[in-house]
Amino acid sequence: MKAVNRIEVIITAYGRGPDAVGRANDGRVVFVRGAVPGDTVRVLISEEHNSFLRGKVDTIIKPSPDRRETSCIHHTRDACGGCPWIATSQPRQQREKFEAVHREIKRVDQRAQIRPIRTEVPEWGYRRRTRLGYRHGVLGFRRRQERKIFNLETCLVLDPRINSALPAIRLEANKRALLHGSGNLDVVVDDHGRVHIGGVARIFRQPSATTETLLTKLVLEAIPSNDIHVAELFSGAGTFTEPLIQRGHILRAWEVDEHSVRQLKMRCPSADVERLDLFRHPARVNLQGVDSVLLDPPRAGAKDCMIPIAKSSASSIVYVSCDLATLCRDLRILTAHGFKVDYAVPVDAFPQTPHIETVVKLVRSTARQVHVQEGKLG
Ligand SMILES: C[S@@+](CC[C@H](N)C(=O)[O-])C[C@H]1O[C@@H](n2cnc3c(N)ncnc32)[C@H](O)[C@@H]1O
Repeated sequence: MKAVNRIEVIITAYGRGPDAVGRANDGRVVFVRGAVPGDTVRVLISEEHNSFLRGKVDTIIKPSPDRRETSCIHHTRDACGGCPWIATSQPRQQREKFEAVHREIKRVDQRAQIRPIRTEVPEWGYRRRTRLGYRHGVLGFRRRQERKIFNLETCLVLDPRINSALPAIRLEANKRALLHGSGNLDVVVDDHGRVHIGGVARIFRQPSATTETLLTKLVLEAIPSNDIHVAELFSGAGTFTEPLIQRGHILRAWEVDEHSVRQLKMRCPSADVERLDLFRHPARVNLQGVDSVLLDPPRAGAKDCMIPIAKSSASSIVYVSCDLATLCRDLRILTAHGFKVDYAVPVDAFPQTPHIETVVKLVRSTARQVHVQEGKLG
């Protein structure tokens, strides 16, 4: 879109996503790509709407104390879309994430306790799985707001073993390009440090080993140990299923991916596992007699599963989410149907990006318990 104007803006925070925000003189919100909260910048406006403007940094007039130099060669040279917050100090990134979770979850339920953000995931080299695009001999990530791929030399957030494997990944990509021209290649580092290209790399794994350990701990803390019957939706290959079974719970699990289901059945033979598309058939989940429900859906959330969960016998729900917007949409349904948000724990699982992982515990609200009791008495 054609640039229409340049304006000076004081940047106050990040918005919901990669852009930072400030206000124009006329009060309209300005979304600014490349700005850091605390910056004063001249913005090249590219879009003008009645209530907001959009643009990118033209000149930094006064840098934020939270702005930092980045040593990533791809951030500026190739406009890599992977780490939009990389020029912001780590403490500021974490403050922004905590505040976003606090603001959005409190909007859903004032009573919710928002626990401090967990910051165990290392700032660099943490990503043990990734998806790389290939096309015409180029292998790498996509440019910001574009489908176009640039050639990846090294990535600061990837596990160094993936960086070292880039020549082998490139060879595999070139072979595949001869067959299908272009596509994506999943890459993962397993628990033994081996890099897998394609194949098992397609099975979901938490982005880092630290995130997996931390989320497992938070899930085990949130599910009462005396809640014997646990239903797990979007179980993947059993990251949480296995430790729950080891603690003595009886598990029912649902997952759509056949490779994950196969792995889960081998890993947890005592679990009652069903391959099911939960987006298409949310009502087919049998939640009769469950004490707790655990769910960890993809970014789209699990809107249509909320009513069956709310109507189940579960007295607590643990919702692990990588998307704050869909999480809050789904929590609203649960709070409208007898649950309250007990607490939420934000986890900085994706440093350098706006993505936030959140673990939320919900319990039956007092109102519903009273209602049930009255019903029983009546
Ligand atoms: C965020 S992952 C969580 C996996 C697991 N909790 C873990 O930590 O490994 C989301 C899972 O949902 C599964 N999934 C995606 N869409 C689904 C659908 N429509 N029905 C059931 N499962 C789905 C994915 O295959 C993936 O395993």
